[in-house]
Amino acid sequence: MTTPKKNRTTTLADWDRTYLWHPFTQMQEWEQEEPLIIEQGKGSYLIDTEGKRYLDGTSSIWVNLHGHRHPALNRAMKNQLDTLAHSTLLGLSNPPAIQLARELIRIAPKGMKRVFYSDNGSTAVEVALKMAVQYWQQRCSDAGSKNTFLHLKLAYHGDTVGAVSVGNIDLFHSRFKSLLFPTVEADPPYCYRCPLRLTYPSCQMACLDPIERILKERHRELAGFIIEPLVQAAAGMITAPPGYLKRIRELCTKYNVLLIADEVATGFGRTGKMFACQHEGVPPDLMAIGKGLTGGYMPLAATLTTEEIYHAFLGRYEDFKTFFHGHSYTGNPLGCAVALANLEVFKKEKTLARLQPKIKTMGRLLQPLWQLPHVGDIRQKGFMVAIELVEDKKTRKPYPLEARMGHRVTQEARRHGLLLRPLGHIMVLIPPLSTDASVLARMVSILHRAIATVTASPSLT
Ligand SMILES: Cc1ncc(COP(=O)(O)O)c(C=O)c1O
Repeated sequence: MTTPKKNRTTTLADWDRTYLWHPFTQMQEWEQEEPLIIEQGKGSYLIDTEGKRYLDGTSSIWVNLHGHRHPALNRAMKNQLDTLAHSTLLGLSNPPAIQLARELIRIAPKGMKRVFYSDNGSTAVEVALKMAVQYWQQRCSDAGSKNTFLHLKLAYHGDTVGAVSVGNIDLFHSRFKSLLFPTVEADPPYCYRCPLRLTYPSCQMACLDPIERILKERHRELAGFIIEPLVQAAAGMITAPPGYLKRIRELCTKYNVLLIADEVATGFGRTGKMFACQHEGVPPDLMAIGKGLTGGYMPLAATLTTEEIYHAFLGRYEDFKTFFHGHSYTGNPLGCAVALANLEVFKKEKTLARLQPKIKTMGRLLQPLWQLPHVGDIRQKGFMVAIELVEDKKTRKPYPLEARMGHRVTQEARRHGLLLRPLGHIMVLIPPLSTDASVLARMVSILHRAIATVTASPSLT
């Protein structure tokens, strides 16, 4: 008797468990589970090697905008591939990188005039931090040493060491403390768990007072204030009250500290406008973008800045004011070509205009979830949604990490065809911007049912 040939999925699963190391994943558990292997995408759906369809409830980790396999984006990449896949920006240039820079400046918040490419959100943040420090060194000697940063607690700006230094998610970061440079932290506007135990709006955003105190006392050492504008995404979509960001801008101007907007998660329509800063007409001094820049097709990122900052780096070579930073794939033509097509789709398909009613629909669809006994808070800004699960709704007592509520709800939702990636016990829904109302309704209904089912069963896995 011959042994039956393993099917392709089983073979791939074996190889995955043998050779791969997945990010943010406890591999001991992974090795005991059947991996879900995604082979195709179409619109808001992902399809596994067995042909089973799933709704992409995370936009493939917050990157996809116009759906998978969009014809215009596919075409742009294929065309670019027939011309040039890669050439460096070190000492050379290429048409897609030039054209994209021009387009980005056209759509960016006021004041952004220069584009520096890199290849992921973390590096875009690193570039912003290094630019800020070098800027102050080269601009004026009387501003102070200005070589550290203010940031909010629970911030997440990426996983490289500089980005981790200005981040503050203990579970991810505490282990690396010895590698990090010192920073200054302030409490975030986490209204559901207000650090000052106040209530919005009667608090009148009192959380800004300590921030002003820090800026007043320490501005001579602060190169910049780095912030995720409007939504602290990885912290659990903590949404800042209206006017908060604008006030931060005013304070940074008043105390001569650069405002670094990390729009890696919030950029490209995710909050309902092209960039979150544009909700409050806030011009940053530096802005990091990534994720949605290529519509979810290629790893490309950029740091945008003002003409004033750019000018501080100009001089003769021997002045050594050059920004000595770059990556092998900086300005990669394939990434830039697909990013250009992404921006073109925004125009052609009126993505932002068509998004507005869907944002309202999402708000309506989420309403019934407030009734669930373990839903403590629901936060929404545009197409960024978080549902905070709590053990006790009255006291807001969180589930213990070991309960793995987010993980369990995710597993349940997957059984019903919705892919999610929770942040601890906070469920996150970030659909592609192209998702239509009926598909949104299906996503929210699966999530609703999964939360209801799992939170009703007390057993821990
Ligand atoms: C606000 C923010 N900044 C930076 C990053 C890091 O981006 P990347 O994962 O592309 O390095 C992320 C990733 O989630 C993010 O949410």
